Amino acid sequence: MPKLVDRVAIVTGAGRGVGYATALMLAKEGASIVVNDLDAAEAEATVAAIKGGDGNAIACAGDITADDYPETLIQTALDGYGGIDIIVNNAGYIWNGAMHNHTDEQWQAMLDVHVTAPFRILRAFAPWMRQQAKREIEQDGRARCRKVVNVSSVSGTTGAATQVAYSAGKAGVVGLTKTLAKEWGRYNVTVNCVAFGHIRTRLTQPYEGEPPRIDVAGRDYKVGLTDAQIRAVQATAALGRSGEPQDGAGAILLFCFPESDYVTGEVLTCAGGI
Ligand SMILES: NC(=O)c1ccc[n+]([C@@H]2O[C@H](COP(=O)([O-])OP(=O)(O)OC[C@H]3O[C@@H](n4cnc5c(N)ncnc54)[C@H](O)[C@@H]3O)[C@@H](O)[C@H]2O)c1
Repeated sequence: MPKLVDRVAIVTGAGRGVGYATALMLAKEGASIVVNDLDAAEAEATVAAIKGGDGNAIACAGDITADDYPETLIQTALDGYGGIDIIVNNAGYIWNGAMHNHTDEQWQAMLDVHVTAPFRILRAFAPWMRQQAKREIEQDGRARCRKVVNVSSVSGTTGAATQVAYSAGKAGVVGLTKTLAKEWGRYNVTVNCVAFGHIRTRLTQPYEGEPPRIDVAGRDYKVGLTDAQIRAVQATAALGRSGEPQDGAGAILLFCFPESDYVTGEVLTCAGGI
């Protein structure tokens, strides 16, 4: 039996990688999905893939760091499906460099996408969620259990050389998670976090020689890991392998299922046992 029938889920960065896998897996469990990505074509492709599997989805392409975007995202979900049950704050990218080369712009960009945007999306969700939960408490004695899953990284929980800004953003989202879990418990909203190790996506694509580059909002960033770096990560993983996007999505889904309704404020490491 699908576990999320009648649930509405927002997934940011769902055009690729872990977000894509999460959107498809949530849809397979019966949830209707609001698909965000910076890249409209990728967001539409995710919607098409979900609909191809008889699921429900609408696209809401846009930059999560844009000032007015969080309200647009929340309103799109409310207009499209009449409610919101799950928010997965997954969108992100890396902008690495040694500490002495980190610019203010780089620092700010990493905080913007990894912690400020999730904060602003959840703040935009708050007015509707509070009103709805209060109504449900009045009617049924208890609000429906809603779920927030934020995406962090082992870089944020344990540190990683050359990722000082990224790590700070990914550590910030842990603080956001723990505080909101305390603040929103009264509305029966669970707020948890998944910290990934090495998941095979375009951010971690293997290379030799010159690193590959990705375009994010018209600017290009170096990504990827050398084969030697990948072997080193795999050697430290108890499971002896890298994760696939489905592995990352699976960990996110654990916090979306009703079985985790009494789990909140937690950070789950999904890294193969490093
Ligand atoms: N892949 C890993 O090993 C790994 C490890 C730790 C944490 N993470 C985190 O997992 C999340 C997903 O990353 P992934 O590996 O699937 O990468 P990915 O590049 O495959 O997918 C990320 C998606 O987010 C979108 N995105 C980026 N910035 C955006 C913005 N401002 N607004 C809207 N969409 C935006 C991109 O367009 C892309 O489609 C990120 O937060 C990343 O930091 C990944």
